[in-house]
Amino acid sequence: MIAANTNSTDCLISPAISPALIEGNAKIAAPLKIGILASGSGSNFEVIAQAIQQGQLNAKIPVLIYNNPEAKAVARAEKYGIPSILLNHRDCKSREELDTKIVKTFQEYDVEWVVMAGWMRIVTKVLLDAFPNKVINIHPSLLPSFPGIRAVEQALAAKVKITGCTVHIAHLEVDSGPILMQAAVPVLPDDTPETLHGRIQVQEHKIMLGAIALIADRPPV
Ligand code: GAR
Repeated sequence: MIAANTNSTDCLISPAISPALIEGNAKIAAPLKIGILASGSGSNFEVIAQAIQQGQLNAKIPVLIYNNPEAKAVARAEKYGIPSILLNHRDCKSREELDTKIVKTFQEYDVEWVVMAGWMRIVTKVLLDAFPNKVINIHPSLLPSFPGIRAVEQALAAKVKITGCTVHIAHLEVDSGPILMQAAVPVLPDDTPETLHGRIQVQEHKIMLGAIALIADRPPV
């Protein structure tokens, strides 16, 4: 199982949840079935898929849903033999209609938890009520600072010296909900949105795995 990295320059803030599996426990919980929502590159999705493949996470990904036909996440899914399904928001009349299709698809694949791994749509009660407190989101800032779009640009404009990333349980208000894990990233004098986002993403990949490990280490059924 993956442990939070606390011995580097990363500033990880662990939650008040302790892994339920203890060493020597003979019964192992069934792999956690995680449905992924991704809109773009899918690097966070791939670190989860890779950790599962390498036996580092007690989880599996039954399906990836993407909303953008150009999403590079699809090629990553193919690499890991994970089915991917396009649910294009442009084909839906409302956010609720998209979320209804997402819920139906995830239920068909028996998904237990939902991970928004770079999901650039605002989610509604339809999704959150179907998976109560079981939808997690990753955001490129130290929430509650800089919620919403262009979080990295917001941090640069505010001239903060430290920003970072957050994995949290998603509640209805955009980028709100209980924080599972965070990592701090220094802002350097010459940073552009691209250089800063690049360093934030290195930390995102660590806290994404750390947060999922916390959830996947659940009591045996
Ligand atoms: C990540 O940096 C994630 O924090 C951000 O999108 C990027 C997706 O990267 N998410 C948001 O801004 C959501 N509010 P990826 O596709 O390579 O995982």
